[in-house]
Amino acid sequence: MRSELGHLNKYFFKYKKHFIGGIICVALSNVFSVFGAIYVRNAFDTVASSLKSNHHILSDLKSQLFIYALIILGAAIVRGIFMFLMRQSLIVMSRNIEYDLKNEIYAQYQKLDTSFYRTNNTGDMMNRISEDVSRVRMYVGPAIMYLVNLVVMFIVLIASMLQVNVELTIWVITPLPILAISIYYVNDFIEKKSDAMQEQLSNVTSFVQEAFSGLRVIKSYSKEHSITQAFEKEADIYKSKSLALTFVDALWFPSILLLVGISSILTVYIGGKQAIAGEISIGNIAEFIIYINMLSFPVTSLGWAVSLIQRAKASQTRINEFLHVQPTIYNTQNNVYEFNESIKFNNVTFKYKVESAEALSSIQFDIKKGDSLGVVGSTGSGKSTLAQLMLRLYEPTEGHIYIDDIPLNQLNLSAYRQDIGYVPQDVFLFSDTIKNNMIFGEENASEIDMINAAKDAAVHDNIIEFADTYETMVGERGITLSGGQKQRIAIARALIKKPKLLILDDCLSAVDAETEEQILSNLKTHLNQTTSIIISHKVSSVINCDEIIVLDKGQIIERGNHNFLINQDGYYAGLYSKQMKETVV
Ligand SMILES: Nc1ncnc2c1ncn2[C@@H]1O[C@H](COP(=O)(O)OP(=O)(O)OP(=O)(O)O)[C@@H](O)[C@H]1O
Ligand SMILES: [Mg+2]
Repeated sequence: MRSELGHLNKYFFKYKKHFIGGIICVALSNVFSVFGAIYVRNAFDTVASSLKSNHHILSDLKSQLFIYALIILGAAIVRGIFMFLMRQSLIVMSRNIEYDLKNEIYAQYQKLDTSFYRTNNTGDMMNRISEDVSRVRMYVGPAIMYLVNLVVMFIVLIASMLQVNVELTIWVITPLPILAISIYYVNDFIEKKSDAMQEQLSNVTSFVQEAFSGLRVIKSYSKEHSITQAFEKEADIYKSKSLALTFVDALWFPSILLLVGISSILTVYIGGKQAIAGEISIGNIAEFIIYINMLSFPVTSLGWAVSLIQRAKASQTRINEFLHVQPTIYNTQNNVYEFNESIKFNNVTFKYKVESAEALSSIQFDIKKGDSLGVVGSTGSGKSTLAQLMLRLYEPTEGHIYIDDIPLNQLNLSAYRQDIGYVPQDVFLFSDTIKNNMIFGEENASEIDMINAAKDAAVHDNIIEFADTYETMVGERGITLSGGQKQRIAIARALIKKPKLLILDDCLSAVDAETEEQILSNLKTHLNQTTSIIISHKVSSVINCDEIIVLDKGQIIERGNHNFLINQDGYYAGLYSKQMKETVV
């Protein structure tokens, strides 16, 4: 049981002050609660004996009782203070651990490489950092608090009860294990129902989320009605699951009260007999009834805490699964590095999965600093894969990539990536201002740098037409912008870094021919020191590249500059004449 949860021990150690302080407070609060009960007994006994003897003067009795009342009240207040402190230390500790654990998981997510993200779905990763962490928190906070509370209270109370009467004590505590065990099962049942409900809730959430993202498709196909019906069905399942939970929940509390009630009746009956026989006092009965009520909550919490710990263990196992994943691609070097000379692909072959077809086969090329490489090819031919290998988002299955004659996997990865401006095919913008989206890679960029980059990406004129210019919010995933505007903002984001290596993955697909030409000529004049890789479906984007490679099914089928390839009269020349005709028409 400990092994998986053992991961958390380092956090207990980190927050040892909270932990130890909390346990001391738990102990003290229990001592004071027993103290209160003893004075209730004394008060009862004082009244009983004064009724018997008649020796007491009424005013004496009153003042005696008043003192007892003050002591009981004082004990309750002191107990309350310690309970407050106990929560302040143990629950605060659990929140701190929750925070640390979330950060630990998040940092690990950032370290993991793209192949991890390909095999694990987003929902699962979200769950581990939210749901699973909250369950673990229930262990490090409430579960531990109640367990410690139970142990301390048990020791203190049982000691105090045994002093009064052994037989009565046994009678009173006999029903308690039944209570604890039944609570464990009931709670387990409740948790299962509540899991089912949670799961359905996330189904409903994903359904709604997808419906919002696909709103345009839904509306244009007039599918609102059927989507609404599908939603109602999901919501209905959710309703019935939560009603099932409510039913069990509703039974829970009355059952506890019943068991506590039975214990109280036993105490009054047996205690009454013993009091008549003179073995105990009337006050003892009152004292015991208080003890039963005090014990019932910790005992119910025992069953509860055990099931919490089991769930926390299951969650921590899931978390550990991710925490122990070693990224296959990570930075091994911290030396200063600057991209200088060349990029070389030496017989690079790549498969996404062992069993899948080769996305790239035996790719071989060489680019010198300041040169540009054009990559064309039909869809699915491996162009984007090539870019991702160059960024070391994936590792080649066979062959090597050399940067300045150093194998890519031996470079300082973050320094290398720092030198790269990459515009992916599926442009991603954050729901932030245009400005923040642009300076994402280069937070120290000046206003002038930003405007220059926007001008080079031919998007400045568009931006200044917006009411808030560079401060315009782009909406979620850039929804308020046109496809071409998004692409150009993403290009500006890459340019602002003044990259040494620029990789444009088909990011001119949504701009018109004139704008494309403008951007390409800007790149040529301002980035003549930059090595660039231009991936495109359109021959027009690569026409001026120093070298062009044509990919088909992961293989290079043609290579050379534009004129050379036209003379070859192969795939490239065919593509060119077809695209030229389209532009002329
Ligand atoms: N994440 C992935 N997991 C598995 N296979 C993939 C993945 N991404 C791409 N592929 C496969 O690898 C091959 C090459 O894909 P790639 O994205 O490199 O093509 P592309 O030339 O960029 O195409 P397009 O012009 O449509 O962008 C395709 O057969 C594709 O199905
Ligand atoms: Mg692609």
